[in-house]
Amino acid sequence: MALKVLFGVGFALCISFALTQARSLRSPGTLEEFQLGNIVLEFLPPYVYENGSKCMMESGCLKYEKIESGSGSDRLGSYLINIYTYTTSMNTSVIVSLRFYEDNTLVFKQEFPHGLNGTGMGDKDGVSAAFPRMVLPSAQAAPSLRFFTPGGYMIGYTRLSIGTIADNIDDFRYGEDGGLVVLFQQEGNSELWSMAMSALTQPMATNVWLDKNNSILDWGVQGQAENIPANFSLEVILHTNYYSINNLIMEWGAKLQEYHSTKRMVDLSAKYLSYYTDNGAYYYYNTGSFKNYRDALMSVYNYTLDAHLPVRRLELDSWWYYKGIKNGVKNWTEIPSVMPGGIANLHQTTGWPIVAHNRWFASDTDYAKQNGGKFPFTVDNSTSKALPLDKSFWDALFDKAKTWGLVTYIQDWLNDQYSHTSALHTNLTLGDTWLTDMAKSAEERDINILYCMSYIRHVLHSVTTPAVTQARASDDYRDGSHNQWRIGVTSLVANALGLIPFKDVFWSSKENHEDTPFKDMSNKDAFVEPNPHLQAAIATLSGGSVGPGDKAENLDVEVLMRSCDKEGLLLQPTKSLTVIDKYFFSNTYKEVWTGHSEVSNSTFGIIFMEDIKQDLNLSAYELNLEKAMKKNFILWQNYPFNATYIKVFNVGDNVDVPKCEGAFNFCLHYSSPAMKAAGTTYYFLGEKAKWVPVSPQRIINIQVSSSDVLVTVRGVEGEKVTLTFYETSAFDIGCTFAKSGTMKASAASRKCE
Ligand SMILES: *[C@@H]1O[C@H](CO)[C@@H](O)[C@H](O)[C@H]1NC(C)=O
Ligand SMILES: *[C@@H]1O[C@H](CO)[C@@H](O)[C@H](O)[C@H]1NC(C)=O
Ligand SMILES: *[C@@H]1O[C@H](CO)[C@@H](O)[C@H](O)[C@H]1NC(C)=O
Ligand SMILES: *[C@@H]1O[C@H](CO)[C@@H](O)[C@H](O)[C@H]1NC(C)=O
Ligand SMILES: *[C@@H]1O[C@H](CO)[C@@H](O)[C@H](O)[C@H]1NC(C)=O
Ligand SMILES: *[C@@H]1O[C@H](CO)[C@@H](O)[C@H](O)[C@H]1NC(C)=O
Ligand SMILES: *[C@@H]1O[C@H](CO)[C@@H](O)[C@H](O)[C@H]1NC(C)=O
Ligand SMILES: *[C@@H]1O[C@H](CO)[C@@H](O)[C@H](O)[C@H]1NC(C)=O
Ligand SMILES: *[C@@H]1O[C@H](CO)[C@@H](O)[C@H](O)[C@H]1NC(C)=O
Ligand SMILES: *[C@@H]1O[C@H](CO)[C@@H](O)[C@H](O)[C@H]1NC(C)=O
Ligand SMILES: *[C@@H]1O[C@H](CO)[C@@H](O)[C@H](O)[C@H]1NC(C)=O
Ligand SMILES: *[C@@H]1O[C@H](CO)[C@@H](O)[C@H](O)[C@H]1NC(C)=O
Repeated sequence: MALKVLFGVGFALCISFALTQARSLRSPGTLEEFQLGNIVLEFLPPYVYENGSKCMMESGCLKYEKIESGSGSDRLGSYLINIYTYTTSMNTSVIVSLRFYEDNTLVFKQEFPHGLNGTGMGDKDGVSAAFPRMVLPSAQAAPSLRFFTPGGYMIGYTRLSIGTIADNIDDFRYGEDGGLVVLFQQEGNSELWSMAMSALTQPMATNVWLDKNNSILDWGVQGQAENIPANFSLEVILHTNYYSINNLIMEWGAKLQEYHSTKRMVDLSAKYLSYYTDNGAYYYYNTGSFKNYRDALMSVYNYTLDAHLPVRRLELDSWWYYKGIKNGVKNWTEIPSVMPGGIANLHQTTGWPIVAHNRWFASDTDYAKQNGGKFPFTVDNSTSKALPLDKSFWDALFDKAKTWGLVTYIQDWLNDQYSHTSALHTNLTLGDTWLTDMAKSAEERDINILYCMSYIRHVLHSVTTPAVTQARASDDYRDGSHNQWRIGVTSLVANALGLIPFKDVFWSSKENHEDTPFKDMSNKDAFVEPNPHLQAAIATLSGGSVGPGDKAENLDVEVLMRSCDKEGLLLQPTKSLTVIDKYFFSNTYKEVWTGHSEVSNSTFGIIFMEDIKQDLNLSAYELNLEKAMKKNFILWQNYPFNATYIKVFNVGDNVDVPKCEGAFNFCLHYSSPAMKAAGTTYYFLGEKAKWVPVSPQRIINIQVSSSDVLVTVRGVEGEKVTLTFYETSAFDIGCTFAKSGTMKASAASRKCE
């Protein structure tokens, strides 16, 4: 007899019922089913591989010993727990448990007090020890059950998949490059229910496997683990939400962060304007008319000084260090002919802190003991890759890099390093050790880490490593071609985990000459950036790094200055722009993204639309902007620049905005809450000259009193900041900064002092 756990109303009551039942009616090995909306999800007993074969209850190999129930609490709150003990035919204990929290969260744990030998089941995408095992409902039982599974690299951007279980199951992402499963359903106006599942601990060692023949989702130890060390455990979280998918994903990420007490270092590279030289940049394996990178980058530096473009960081991509076998890293040292004088000298001359790229280590890397180097590595000759095994390696690498100005370390090719280092699949603790050593060493030296080509497992792991602050949210600017800016959903996953999404390099000008570095692009002569404004806006609205990569004289200062202040401080939203719930159901509103800025107690909404073929008529809830629209508000358009739309709404009104058609054509609307002072209703629109007119970097306080709305604005010596307010019509107040600091703009007196 299976137990039923009902989520939603009366959760606690149902659980205590379940536990009472569990003691008396327990049929050995049968785990609960639970019901979400009208869908019943059934759970199956665990299996493990031992001594090379599958050990299950059905075959008599896995024996049910006992169930214990209890209660407790941890960082996720108080819970009720069922603990099931099994033994294998070799008399090894396998313990699985299920914790029920009061807020619709379940945590599944598998633990191995004596370890387990011979667990490899052969498939890198498979599972060696499975718990939980969840049966997906059939297409007949749940025709409108949908899934969202980020897959592939760049936070799951490259093989991202959304569809129905009934029709699109072949697109469902699992195995090595999956790891986050979101299921949801809503029919018409019926109740929405949604659930997210992922590893809660040990993400590097955990797989999710979809058995399509039987519609079973197995979670557990990755399939090629040779053995499980004594006392190893892993946990899987299942979180449900009945409100919105955006809320579900944010709550799921918050749970992971709470559980691990996640902290993230401050990352100034994502706070100041950068210059990038990675794939898609003009100077990517290309020095144009210059004979080396030193000269090319000095031309960029000289240009930024002349043009008053406040670039504050320089990214050096893979072109600067030595490659070994199959292009892996031989040593992470500058090639003198590429960078005469060295990076240290370039760093000193320009004053630019360095953001530097690294990739996987080659099997002939100079650092490995196997090759006469100093450090223990695992060397995988079959794939020509190597992986450092000891933190001392990272300490030495970063100590040296500090001397030439490294502030942010880009670990790229995380996918290939993981997929093609066999020890990362056979050894359950190595993945965690690798990433933790790297991050600890970086943190000790005040270096940030930007993950690139990360699988979901890597970004899940990052909740335990404060140094990892940014993650690339889409494929390369070149490879991803004209669509790689579409980061609205990967940014949501990044936000949930407390990571800053990065959109990658872009061109701020449409063209960068006939000698474009897009060497291996068949249409390289035709390459034109269709909309540099779109690129600059998205980078800024993502809340992450802004890294143009044009040829020096093609840097469009006017466009780029919409992103930052006179010192290059980026003017960003408080919350990145991300897709709205409708994204998960249809393509109609695919590129409607929203975010907001918060200043004092006011929330300012931002709505981005690209190629939207019908007028918008959506509620604050549908726009994920309830906080920004909890008072009467004004909505106004600030892009295209000649737009004139401005309209006052009452709380609860649907927002109606005209369509915004055309590929790469985009529109930006902003909401501002009503502020009442001296019998007048004011709306503070902010600085129209910026992509984010109200940003906490620029607007540091808004004080609404009985007589005035006073806005405290931060500026830099010589800067003129024009702020727009609206009363019965719009009016501007100019703040001219004689020195760097703050000034106050008064709506009542229309002055800034
Ligand atoms: C484990 O498997 C090997 C062969 O694969 C076999 O010789 C051995 O007896 C097995 N051990 C046990 C305890 O079943
Ligand atoms: C299994 O292990 C337990 C203790 O861990 C022991 O008491 C028992 O005798 C063992 N059974 C077999 C069949 O080896
Ligand atoms: C696994 O194998 C190791 C080494 O042969 C042995 O020491 C250990 O007891 C075994 N563990 C189990 C659970 O069988
Ligand atoms: C699924 O069914 C196919 C066809 O019967 C079979 O070849 C395959 O091995 C099955 N896969 C699994 C994982 O059982
Ligand atoms: C596993 O944990 C138990 C209980 O904490 C401890 O007594 C035992 O020594 C541990 N075993 C190993 C191999 O660490
Ligand atoms: C950059 O400016 C410096 C100082 O004016 C000058 O010496 C140098 O030649 C310039 N370099 C390039 C590549 O323009
Ligand atoms: C890096 O590799 C190059 C090419 O093999 C070699 O010339 C150089 O000495 C190496 N540098 C270091 C620091 O190992
Ligand atoms: C890997 O290749 C190197 C160079 O060919 C060789 O010296 C080494 O023995 C190989 N290692 C293994 C484990 O095969
Ligand atoms: C697995 O990796 C750990 C580091 O996490 C290391 O200490 C251990 O020796 C490795 N085990 C094997 C069998 O290589
Ligand atoms: C924000 O609101 C809270 C509670 O309404 C109030 O105590 C606080 O002073 C406000 N903060 C600002 C900066 O206005
Ligand atoms: C927008 O939707 C609301 C509620 O569905 C409806 O009452 C209103 O007429 C619509 N407005 C427009 C302009 O279509
Ligand atoms: C803005 O200007 C563009 C051309 O520059 C024009 O096509 C468009 O209709 C104008 N929009 C408005 C709202 O005036």
